[in-house]
Amino acid sequence: MLTPVKDILKMASDANTSVIAFNSLDYNMIYSTVQAAEKVGKPVICMLYPEHHTGFNWANPEGFAAMVKSLADEVSVPVGLHLDHCSDFNYIMRAVKAGFSCVMYDGSMLPLEENIANTRKVADAAHAFGVAVEAELGHVGFAATVSDQSNLDMYTQPDVAAKFIEESTCDALAVAIGSAHGVYKETPHLDIKRLSEINAATEAPLVLHGGSGIPDDQLDQAFVNGINKFNVGTEFFQLYYDCLKDYGQINGDGGNIFDYANYCQPRLIDYLTKKMELSKF
Ligand code: 13P
Repeated sequence: MLTPVKDILKMASDANTSVIAFNSLDYNMIYSTVQAAEKVGKPVICMLYPEHHTGFNWANPEGFAAMVKSLADEVSVPVGLHLDHCSDFNYIMRAVKAGFSCVMYDGSMLPLEENIANTRKVADAAHAFGVAVEAELGHVGFAATVSDQSNLDMYTQPDVAAKFIEESTCDALAVAIGSAHGVYKETPHLDIKRLSEINAATEAPLVLHGGSGIPDDQLDQAFVNGINKFNVGTEFFQLYYDCLKDYGQINGDGGNIFDYANYCQPRLIDYLTKKMELSKF
């Protein structure tokens, strides 16, 4: 059932847990995400990362939205449609018009006041269409650069978070507390104390990026300390690629592209259902 992301975040907040938001590229990944959610009876969010469209020619916002909407119609669990990291106002509005119920404006590399002003501009425009806005304060860097996850200068400051949310009017806030995007070279250590301080200083649902590879016990802690949306990409993409390689290796010239969907979807669903055990709905 297609459901506004804002409503799903409220469900997560009420249940003191986090919904998991998975990045996807195509029908196989979206289908598997929606079916896995139905299997475990929990809400889920499907996310489009704009650069996968603009840089690699995967699904555009209209096509992505159409796939999520039609697949969500086939299940009873809430399914959200979200635009991940974007700093292009026009692209964000394109996604809004395509039916995304939540869009992320990422101004995390900008000076604070500029991040606030730009987020506010996006929020004013998106809110007029009833669409929610996620913003980022502090900066979640890249796991390939180990220092990104331990650089305290990039972490979110609790007192600034309250001001940021009030002035930008964003609906959800991505926080930098020790995670990073991509494959970790060193095990991350989430700053749970900082997270609980941010949570105490703000009302908005908090979002944890860089979800692949964070140990489960740390995630359990994060989810009861204010994280209501948890983003996962790298692990899911890697598995999809592994499926492709394995299918070729197992079947050689005897394989065919039609059969590939039937091969990979159960593997993807198996991974997704296990991951969703972290969500305590
Ligand atoms: P990973 O690719 O590291 O799992 O992070 C995903 C993410 O944060 C998308 O916004």
